[in-house]
Amino acid sequence: MNRKDEHVSLAKAFHKPRHNDFDDVTLIHHSFPACRVSDVSIETELFDQSLTSPFFINAMTGGSEKTKEYNRQLAILARETDLMMATGSVSAALRNPEISDSYTVVRQEYPNGTLLANVGAGTTLEDAKRAVDLFEANALQIHLNAPQELVMPEGDRDFTQWLSTLEEITTHLDVPVIVKEVGFGMTRETIQHLLSVGVTIIDVAGSGGTSFTQIENARRKKREFTYLDDFGLSNVASLLEAKEVPVPFELIASGGVRNAFDIFKALCFGAQTVGIAGTILNQLLTNGLEPTITLVQQWQTELKTLYAMTGATKTAHLKKVPLFLSGHPKDWCEARNIDIKKYSMRV
Ligand code: FNR
Repeated sequence: MNRKDEHVSLAKAFHKPRHNDFDDVTLIHHSFPACRVSDVSIETELFDQSLTSPFFINAMTGGSEKTKEYNRQLAILARETDLMMATGSVSAALRNPEISDSYTVVRQEYPNGTLLANVGAGTTLEDAKRAVDLFEANALQIHLNAPQELVMPEGDRDFTQWLSTLEEITTHLDVPVIVKEVGFGMTRETIQHLLSVGVTIIDVAGSGGTSFTQIENARRKKREFTYLDDFGLSNVASLLEAKEVPVPFELIASGGVRNAFDIFKALCFGAQTVGIAGTILNQLLTNGLEPTITLVQQWQTELKTLYAMTGATKTAHLKKVPLFLSGHPKDWCEARNIDIKKYSMRV
């Protein structure tokens, strides 16, 4: 089976609603929201663009006939609900132009959309430009995925050029560059590394949902890396880390987002927008396009309700919502010297 098709079918096979760190984040309620639901706007800003929703479809697929159809449906979903959308890594199309249409289909379906192309770390500046040109992407995502490559039987084994190629692309590309993980999360040290080479937009892409160590291990005959199934920092732990970095940058949350409440909690940690991959793919493959459009619209309505419940009429207000952290996030704060009261005592 084509690797891209295999990723989709394994992601679906392993997808199951499960406990994650968002369940250990509780909102602290105040009884006077002092706002009207009709005043609530869930708009957000990212790289100087205004986006009507504070969540988006994160990088997944492309590179085969089947995934062309998934990208087509994801682009229709994004168009009908006005979401930003990323394709999966376009590297395969840079090597083999015959499969370009499995990516360019997103621009055909969504001519005015905010669409992101995606490449791996280690990609040259020239290829990064070709990736953007492929479907006139509004920005480029570059993914960091060392654990995935290492567990992948045919994966990369040399990571020495990642930081220098990132620097070159960030310095010379004329669209915004977003650096993301693929479900393993980021520490403040990783974020500082990225900032030091000029990256200004970061998607922490933590664990708690799709696991690429689990997916790649399932593609190995002996499945010897089963113990890495839950490898990585959670989305919540990564957001806690990101907020410890003193230098400002644009923060995106993703990984393990299951519903509107998880989106809302991620925004309360200061994310500007929230990426969702596995949950949307699973909905689409299980229930089809129309029910997935309805679900996303429902999330948009639920978010307005949640904003109003905390008295927030704008996305930027959410970073003041007080949060009570228990369980793993609390332990994380203790071990990593993060003042938990910053979250529980803010007003
Ligand atoms: C992905 N993801 C991904 N990320 C990336 O940067 N480039 C890629 O090509 C892919 N491919 C891909 C395929 C499939 C089938 C899935 C489900 C995911 C990773 C994705 O963008 C995201 O970072 C992780 O899936 C974690 O988010 P969720 O799934 O827990 O919401």
